[in-house]
Amino acid sequence: MRRTIDWADGAIVVIDQTALPAEYRLLELRTVGELIDAIKRLAVRGAPALGGAGALGVALAARLGGDVRADAELIAGARPTAVNLRWGVERALAKLGQGADAVLAEAQALLAEDEELNKTASAHAAEIVLAECPRRPLRLLSHCNAGRLATVGWGSALGVVWHLHERGLVEEVLVGETRPLLQGARLTAWELAQAGVPYRVQPDGAAAAAMARGMVDCVLVGADRIAANGDVANKIGTYGLAIAAAHHGVPFVVVAPSSTVDRSLADGTGVTIEERDARELTEYAGIGITPPGADVFNPAFDVTPAALITAVVTEHGRYEPS
Ligand code: MRU
Repeated sequence: MRRTIDWADGAIVVIDQTALPAEYRLLELRTVGELIDAIKRLAVRGAPALGGAGALGVALAARLGGDVRADAELIAGARPTAVNLRWGVERALAKLGQGADAVLAEAQALLAEDEELNKTASAHAAEIVLAECPRRPLRLLSHCNAGRLATVGWGSALGVVWHLHERGLVEEVLVGETRPLLQGARLTAWELAQAGVPYRVQPDGAAAAAMARGMVDCVLVGADRIAANGDVANKIGTYGLAIAAAHHGVPFVVVAPSSTVDRSLADGTGVTIEERDARELTEYAGIGITPPGADVFNPAFDVTPAALITAVVTEHGRYEPS
């Protein structure tokens, strides 16, 4: 299976996530402007994949010449919430003094590590899920897309599903559709179908009802930024899921590579939450669905307090808040 984001022949190549599941196509990004546009449109998305995009973006800028530091700042600012984007930019930028080839080599190293770190993190998380949830096989619930498509390869929360499925331990995955851009319905469902894992898509509003009916053994999600105290910023709706899970005694497990941890933030109140275009809510597939001129509140992420989370898991195992 190819990487979600990679480097080939002087260009950044991404799987175009705006086209899935109807069409599987690749985008070749040859300028910094094209990369920034792809990030803003969510053609490439998900915190770890954005880390790769940040690093490769600096490598591209270094190849093209020009003001690499100014380009790097534009790339890092393309989306504000996932800390991995700036982390990837800064990691590659640190090699700029050694020339464009060194920057590209650093970006390539980051890509290779991402898959390994996510595999390890999700293996740790799988053991925690098995310890927390006695029922076999497991009925899991996931939100947004924290799979291969959200990382360079393998996935974080869905990485847990791959590990458990290999062992025959997954009965089904309930997939929250993830309004308004449908990362769950379009991308997570596509990945599960490809992998032959039984799944059902549900409206986001059905999650609490599914838990009340005893249909969920564990909630598994990824993260865009983890504060020092263990508060987690993730796709809008995650906080509500965590409240419902706590109410119903369902374990709630967050899986992410340690590049998603931002120890500079004491808690989640300091996370910048991206607000997106009103048309994501006022239109559906290009057709207006609200009264003309309707105002919207369209945050792309929310913050789940650490107290509602059973475990935050990275490649180092259970994250210990500092
Ligand atoms: O707006 P998106 O699609 O980039 O949001 C992605 C998420 O919220 C994911 O859950 C998160 O990045 C973790 S991905 C391993």
